Amino acid sequence: MTQDASSPTRTEPAATLVETGRVIVGDNLTVMASLEAGSCDLIYADPPFNSNRVHGSTASEGLSFDDKSPDGLKGYLADVAPRLRDMHRLLSASGSLYVHLDWRSVHHVKVLLDDIFGSENFLNEIIWSYRTGGRTGRWFARKHDTILLYARELGHHTFNTRRGGTYRTRDLKMTPDGTPYKTTRNGPVHFHREGPVHSDVWDIPFLSTVSKERTGYPTQKPEALLERIVRASSNKGDLVADFYCGSGTSLAVAARLGRRWFGCDANPDAVAIATDRLKKCGRE
Ligand SMILES: C[S@@+](CC[C@H](N)C(=O)[O-])C[C@H]1O[C@@H](n2cnc3c(N)ncnc32)[C@H](O)[C@@H]1O
Repeated sequence: MTQDASSPTRTEPAATLVETGRVIVGDNLTVMASLEAGSCDLIYADPPFNSNRVHGSTASEGLSFDDKSPDGLKGYLADVAPRLRDMHRLLSASGSLYVHLDWRSVHHVKVLLDDIFGSENFLNEIIWSYRTGGRTGRWFARKHDTILLYARELGHHTFNTRRGGTYRTRDLKMTPDGTPYKTTRNGPVHFHREGPVHSDVWDIPFLSTVSKERTGYPTQKPEALLERIVRASSNKGDLVADFYCGSGTSLAVAARLGRRWFGCDANPDAVAIATDRLKKCGRE
């Protein structure tokens, strides 16, 4: 097992152990079928959303991927279902799956996932709220994606409580050592210095057009989003896998945070970008 980003390679069937530190070109169904059950601690899945369009970045880069299902929603669900089943098989007992979707298919995929994982293992419907995107006069502006979080086995799953942001409590004061508190009739009430526990609504900006993180790959997600996921649901040394890895955001974050990582994508351009990104990626 290595931790170095190697050159993009074609899927090699018949491998059973996950070779970490690799990004592979291939259909994820084939790639996952070659991997051993229980080998992944955290899987992040950011599949096409069934948006019925081809996602492209700037014409000069020519990068794109197809998000059109010939049979509409029915065909989309038929395509995604066996892949989600395999992700369930690949998770360790302490593992978790995050599935990143939007309003088009999330409610249908939730029903599929409840069936695969058991609804008792459903942990959160995370709302990733952002401000960019289209506006319309015909309905409320659509400004969030939904990320469904499932544990492989509730109670055995890894979960590191995360804190951040600011308290809503008014008139907070600060002790000399930086602990926020408020004064009440019964004396001071102290708050956690790192901020409130994160809720299931995440206010994280979309990547700006001039962000240094930008790789040019369409639908690239911000590292801040993935950092919250990786820190919450894995520990150092755990294996983070992404079978729709695109530009490799989850893998780059995993590498930086001292996790092992493995990814694949059907698009060779995506794998080339992810491989390059991982070569440059520093470790904290
Ligand atoms: C929404 S993008 C992922 C973006 C990624 N999270 C990022 O930050 O760059 C979805 C990716 O899934 C890939 N994909 C779609 N169907 C696939 C399949 N059957 N097997 C592997 N990859 C697939 C596409 O090529 C695309 O790169």
